[in-house]
Amino acid sequence: MIDLHCHILFGVDDGPQRLEDSLALARALVADGVTRVVATPHILDPPLSAARIAAGIAHLEHEFSARDIVLELISGGENHYTLSLEEMRGHSINGSRYLLLEFPHSHFPASAGEIVFSLRSAGLIPIIAHPERNAGLLRHPDLLQPLIDQGALSQLTAASLAGDFGSPARQCARYLLKRGLAHFIATDAHGADWRPPRMRAGLKEASHLLGKEAVLKLTAENPQRVLDNRAWPDV
Ligand SMILES: [Fe+2]
Repeated sequence: MIDLHCHILFGVDDGPQRLEDSLALARALVADGVTRVVATPHILDPPLSAARIAAGIAHLEHEFSARDIVLELISGGENHYTLSLEEMRGHSINGSRYLLLEFPHSHFPASAGEIVFSLRSAGLIPIIAHPERNAGLLRHPDLLQPLIDQGALSQLTAASLAGDFGSPARQCARYLLKRGLAHFIATDAHGADWRPPRMRAGLKEASHLLGKEAVLKLTAENPQRVLDNRAWPDV
């Protein structure tokens, strides 16, 4: 499985603080069936440089191989919606046209449609991170539809489906899945203990709703398309 959203790098955001914490998270991901993980630290203002992310990945790759941890690391970032288009472009997933876009948790921004439009016009494809944990979308999940119609994609958090973020987030995630408004399930994990991966638990819930084959699409086939920088079929 490919985890498209994960705070695996240590010392760069609210994810792991020490090398040991990143290693523990890596082992938890492997135990949860993840084989490739995109390092997506928070990209805020001032943005963490792509060079810093590359250095963090190179360091972890070295530490993983010294410990026989088989987990491939890929570059990315969780781009805050207030960043410029060029900043977001510099933090896309694996240097592709796809990037993770983070809205505030407190509300659905009035500028959401405009941001998606600008990104799409520039040939970029935003993947909206965890819509099920946004207060505005929780109340009105159908607000996501126009963004998807504009060519945005969306990523649910496995732990939301498992119920870790409470019943409303779980219900919203289920609703978006059933409506076909979710394209990826990822962990957004921050550590082995706090905000753990929960991939298997989330996928079990998703499988009950959609069946195993559809779930495989959300955790393998669709993320692979992103890593390969292939066009999205419906965009
Ligand atoms: Fe995140």
